[in-house]
Amino acid sequence: MSDNFKVIRKLPGIYIYEIPTLSEVTAEMLRDFNWPPGITSAGFMAKQFCPQVVTEEQIPERYNARIVYSADKGGIVVPACGAPGATAVCCEVGKNLQEFKTIFLETHKVYFQTWGDKVGAGLMSDVVDVAENSLPGAKHLYLECSGLAAGVAAIIKWKDVRGEPVDWIPWVWIASELPKEVRESVRTRIADWMQKNVDGKVQCAIDAFNVRSQKFFIKLGFFPQCIYIGKP
Ligand SMILES: CC(C)(COP(=O)(O)OP(=O)(O)OC[C@H]1O[C@@H](n2cnc3c(N)ncnc32)[C@H](O)[C@@H]1OP(=O)(O)O)[C@@H](O)C(=O)NCCC(=O)NCCS
Repeated sequence: MSDNFKVIRKLPGIYIYEIPTLSEVTAEMLRDFNWPPGITSAGFMAKQFCPQVVTEEQIPERYNARIVYSADKGGIVVPACGAPGATAVCCEVGKNLQEFKTIFLETHKVYFQTWGDKVGAGLMSDVVDVAENSLPGAKHLYLECSGLAAGVAAIIKWKDVRGEPVDWIPWVWIASELPKEVRESVRTRIADWMQKNVDGKVQCAIDAFNVRSQKFFIKLGFFPQCIYIGKP
């Protein structure tokens, strides 16, 4: 069946296929997938979008799946803040790029320690590359709450699955130890900032196992659009 998928883009080591919806990507489909010679990663791009989390049941862990979520500027939702006045407890800091780079790398390190082998090999070097080469000139937001890091987000310029320029969110982080109503206020601030600062289409890539983050972006109006699968 995968032989019928239309290849819409060829990159070194990667083919992008067009499929009707992301629900076509299943354990059975991947088991039978005919990997072309020299291809170690496949992107499955949906023709139709539906705001549904991609689960690990759908894609077994060994495939190192990452999902591209997408929204248009006008489609970004700014969720209401849980507790009235809670937005006031956070303040914006880190206008300084060096300060932002430090928190960007520190929070990524925690993410990599938390998820261990589940995170694709080599991704930390990609993160360092983004910090060095893409963050200068990027837009970034750093929120603190009572002097402690509370939330982080950045927008860089990138290329989408088809090679078109897009705004790209390389990282969003909210301190997990904060009470829910404060995390919600940080989320509201991040969503509001995103809506104001993206130019048009905006995307991010989320590890398939990170269901919490998938739900977070769906709540902000993003749709899963493409699944990247690594050849096991
Ligand atoms: C992703 C992140 C920004 C989400 O912010 P948050 O304040 O933790 O978000 P929430 O606690 O509201 O969780 C989002 C949703 O996931 C749900 N959820 C929480 N933990 C979950 C879990 N282990 N499995 C599945 N769903 C989970 C919540 O119930 C919530 O669902 P709802 O919107 O239906 O209520 C934050 O968890 C984070 O910084 N994580 C580490 C960094 C990261 O993964 N960044 C994203 C990389 S792209």
